[in-house]
Amino acid sequence: MSSALEINNERFNAEAAKWDSNKKHVESVEKAFEAIKQHVPAFGDGSSKNLDVLEIGCGTGLLSFLLAPHVRSLVGVDTSDGMIDAFNSKVAALSDPSKANLAAVKVLLEEPNDVALQGASAALASRRGESGHNAPYNFDLIVSHLTLHHIPSLPDIFSTLFKCLKAGGRIALTDYEDYGPEAITFHAEAKRNGVQRHGIKKDEVEMIIDGTGFNEVRVERVFSLRKEVAAENGQPAQERDFPFLICLGQRSARRRESDASKVFQ
Ligand SMILES: C[S@@+](CC[C@H](N)C(=O)[O-])C[C@H]1O[C@@H](n2cnc3c(N)ncnc32)[C@H](O)[C@@H]1O
Repeated sequence: MSSALEINNERFNAEAAKWDSNKKHVESVEKAFEAIKQHVPAFGDGSSKNLDVLEIGCGTGLLSFLLAPHVRSLVGVDTSDGMIDAFNSKVAALSDPSKANLAAVKVLLEEPNDVALQGASAALASRRGESGHNAPYNFDLIVSHLTLHHIPSLPDIFSTLFKCLKAGGRIALTDYEDYGPEAITFHAEAKRNGVQRHGIKKDEVEMIIDGTGFNEVRVERVFSLRKEVAAENGQPAQERDFPFLICLGQRSARRRESDASKVFQ
């Protein structure tokens, strides 16, 4: 029997070539990009060009290519070869790929020292003339769109992301919300295999992010995506609005009071 990861990879490998031609994919990414710009202070105070960004589940790079002109560097990770190939074709089509400030690698990210992640970060750093950095390269901002619902353990991924951040670094992750039983219809029945959860739950994810040790934790509804859902369980085919959440947190430069008290209890 195939694992959820294998099922996902098979699906995304097959969909990669046509991913960007789906208007709903583009619309949801554009809305996520606006939400990130509104919620990450560096985009408001003019310092976003200092940001080294990590993107989890970058896919073909729809969000990555919107963000890249506004930040210093962006490394995307994804588990699907097809998605990474599509991303790389878009980099190769840039007027001067050797100067691109973004790259993608096929990685199931479990630790910040991951060789492929570190290699991609080092390559981008050397392109901008930096050398002699002590590994690991860590990040100022981690983004992700429509990927958390594919990841088996949320506590594990948030713990990994926390370790990938510099002190003061932030997460800004968007995904559709599990707002009730109708959320399951976000995916057509044929695509539900391999989905770990039918959207993310506000309270649950807020508690996990807080428990990981992040500060300034907020999980908020930021937009909705109207899309067609198929007829199912006696309900006709129809258009439905799916709410999306942004998950925010900061790895503080200082240890939290609550963590300090846990240590001394
Ligand atoms: C729904 S697609 C979204 C792609 C892209 N973020 C976008 O919005 O166009 C989910 C992506 O997450 C990737 N993915 C699934 N599980 C993953 C994991 N554990 N780590 C990294 N990427 C993963 C899939 O290969 C796929 O490219």
